[in-house]
Amino acid sequence: MGKTSKDKRDIYYRRAKEEGWRARSAFKLLQIDQECRIFNGVSKTIDLCAAPGSWSQVLALKLNENYKKALEESSAASPPKIVAVDLQAMAPLEGVIQLQGDITNTNTAKEIIAHFDNTQADLVVCDGAPDVTGLHDMDIFIQSQLLLAALNITTHILRPGGTFVAKIFRAKDVTFLYAQLRIFFSYVYCAKPSSSRNSSIEAFVVCKNYSPPEGYEPHMLNPLLTHEPCDFQKLTGVNRVIVPFVVCGDFSQPDSDTSYPLNYKGEKYKYHEPVQTPIVPFYEEALSLSRSRDFHMADVSVIIENENMNTISLFKKTVLQQSQTEMNVEAKTVQQDQDEDETPIDMLQNLYVSDANKVNN
Ligand SMILES: C[S@@+](CC[C@H](N)C(=O)[O-])C[C@H]1O[C@@H](n2cnc3c(N)ncnc32)[C@H](O)[C@@H]1O
Repeated sequence: MGKTSKDKRDIYYRRAKEEGWRARSAFKLLQIDQECRIFNGVSKTIDLCAAPGSWSQVLALKLNENYKKALEESSAASPPKIVAVDLQAMAPLEGVIQLQGDITNTNTAKEIIAHFDNTQADLVVCDGAPDVTGLHDMDIFIQSQLLLAALNITTHILRPGGTFVAKIFRAKDVTFLYAQLRIFFSYVYCAKPSSSRNSSIEAFVVCKNYSPPEGYEPHMLNPLLTHEPCDFQKLTGVNRVIVPFVVCGDFSQPDSDTSYPLNYKGEKYKYHEPVQTPIVPFYEEALSLSRSRDFHMADVSVIIENENMNTISLFKKTVLQQSQTEMNVEAKTVQQDQDEDETPIDMLQNLYVSDANKVNN
């Protein structure tokens, strides 16, 4: 792929580099704010699932603007506080406290809470996305778990009246997530910024006026969402919630699904390097394996057996075909087992158990 190919395909990607944002996601948060005014009066905030850090950049910018305004009114204004958390390491950002950890882990939650030292946050944002597996139900399940982990942390730290913004996948059971959120917030909107591709099921819940039910005690072990089968039509009252859908970003903004020419609207195109290259790129291991041809111990036989196979790309193709056949066989077996006695939830649980066993062994 050429250096400019991603620039050509995606106007928000190249604009992010031109304007100094670490990722195109920055525009999503900015457009959500244009429509929902999420930064008004905010000085303390948490950015969950923050790497590489473009939302933290937006937060730093907006909170510093608020601080300057507050100082004009009173010298007692408190400086901004931003705590950013991610599984992955993030390059430093001025004014942002960075933690590395899993937000579904109680210890990470405790660490975040400790940083607030008995004070409360005005805003919690979460752009968490799992590494998509391609298994839709699994991806949606993990995404909803991230959102609920974020909500759990939020219930410990958000001040009454505060705001929570989080990525969701608009999938089959999203209404139940909305219903859970409406228990804690007076207003829940589903926002779709124009920089988020139409083709993506991604959207953002914007939840305003945090007001937990009377007597609610935050607890990290609260399972907020049980994945019991549930019929939406049978829900009533607060449990049956239709959340308003809001499109963010005005219509003059470029469309995120369209490829624009590099000289769009007469702009003179200049290539920009990425603002922040990954600290540990996910493709690093694959590259080094590819260079050393050391794909997998079991695959070495393929190279030896195929003396005519001179190029690594042919080798890769064969390995891919082999694993595809293996996956098909495996999928058939899983399907047969499932047909016999397993529900999809059983299957998910079994997957987790077998993964945990692999780790423990
Ligand atoms: C779409 S990216 C976030 C982009 C970020 N908002 C920005 O503007 O730069 C999603 C992030 O979620 C993080 N993530 C996924 N699962 C997580 C977890 N369980 N705990 C913490 N971070 C997680 C990933 O490491 C990834 O960096």
